[in-house]
Amino acid sequence: MKTIIEPFRIKAIEPIRLTTPAERREVLKSAHWNLFAVRSEDVTIDLLTDSGTSAMSARQWAALMAGDESYAGSPSFYRFEAAVKALMPFRHVIPTHQGRAAEAILFALIGGAGRVIPSNAHFDTTRANIEASGAEARDLLIEEGRDPASRHPFKGNMDTARLERLLEERHAEVPAVMLTVTNNTGGGQPVSLENIRATAAIANRYGKPLFIDGCRFAENAYFIKLREPGQQSRAVPDIVRDMFSAADGMIMSAKKDALANIGGWLAVNDDTLAQGARERLILTEGFPTYGGLAGRDLEAIAQGLAEVIDEDYLRYRLRTCEYVVERLRALGVPTVEPSGGHAVFIDARAFLDHIPPLQYPGQALVAALYEQGGVRSCEIGTVMFGRQSDGSERPAMMDLVRLAMPRRVYTQAHADYLIEVIGEIAARRGDLRGLRIVEQPQRLRHFTAQFAPL
Ligand code: F0G
Repeated sequence: MKTIIEPFRIKAIEPIRLTTPAERREVLKSAHWNLFAVRSEDVTIDLLTDSGTSAMSARQWAALMAGDESYAGSPSFYRFEAAVKALMPFRHVIPTHQGRAAEAILFALIGGAGRVIPSNAHFDTTRANIEASGAEARDLLIEEGRDPASRHPFKGNMDTARLERLLEERHAEVPAVMLTVTNNTGGGQPVSLENIRATAAIANRYGKPLFIDGCRFAENAYFIKLREPGQQSRAVPDIVRDMFSAADGMIMSAKKDALANIGGWLAVNDDTLAQGARERLILTEGFPTYGGLAGRDLEAIAQGLAEVIDEDYLRYRLRTCEYVVERLRALGVPTVEPSGGHAVFIDARAFLDHIPPLQYPGQALVAALYEQGGVRSCEIGTVMFGRQSDGSERPAMMDLVRLAMPRRVYTQAHADYLIEVIGEIAARRGDLRGLRIVEQPQRLRHFTAQFAPL
């Protein structure tokens, strides 16, 4: 059969409250056109994030009851640890309450003033944690990854020539090299196994450890299976193990590809680093056999890891974004191509080319999506990245709007509704106006900035 179905039945449902356009205009106004300030009950289709929004399976819900809440030595920890090590063979696995807690611990240990940490592309919390330590976060994505229209199969790849140059010139300042799989900020684009290995080889030649930000490792592995020469007949878990065998450690948000609603971990091979991390963990998260999580959360993660590598699931998962991108292309709406793993990224700068970057075309589209159909999305552009450390502004590399797909939550009819909403906006795109910022914080301004329409 050609139709790729959702490979699950729905046993429990959450009602969606439908709203009127007039209600939504009121909501936008009281939220100052920032969708982070909108209550989720006022949202029809919530594509703000794929993080922590997965629907758990019957087996995950059942596993919750097996959660052992002992402070130390819980069997839930050992099940969690075994599930992680089965896919990511690191010596030490340290649970945290979510990904950024693992980042904070890692960069408190290896970051600091005068250091520079390169990656293909750091996610915003990763960058913020590196910068909070006093270090510099450097993105070295390949050129194709910066071009929304490029159809390179691995647009998340590290530019290994630039990495080599950075290590040549500043090796003493680089404590570690990182890779984010898939590249969230650049469109959910994958990194090839060849690129992971080449990056590891360069890092190792300079005696530097490689850390993978593995949030969307299963989606990345399935892209490798589909697109990388020689990988087609391999099993996804084997590809996953190959990805992580090349690295010396990882940070993880279990809120993505562990199909859990909360959780994360830091994993490392280095014994001294692990000891430092556990000391810090006790200070900020909890004892090393629960790390800021309940025993039941550890069970949900262990079961989620067994489910996320299922190929029927991954085929459906990648098809969701591909389907939306195909339909948007037919409507003449520019998106990042080829489609990514966890989200559809609309190129708002090209779509609304009458709105200059410093009038935030991405945010204008985010507001229009909500007003038109109650769809919540997220700007990844000049609002998120445009503010410089001296307080000045400049256009970000791209102005994208991310439609992040929660895992196992929405159906194809929801996708069709989304496509209709975007089609309506496309028909009147010339009427959309930019925004100005009326209030903003120092850091991570996209969460709380207040806007007004121009
Ligand atoms: N790294 C990447 C690549 C991420 O996408 C995220 C979170 C994190 C680290 C931090 O993990 O949220 O568990 O602390 N991304 C979410 C998103 C928030 O919407 O893309 P966390």
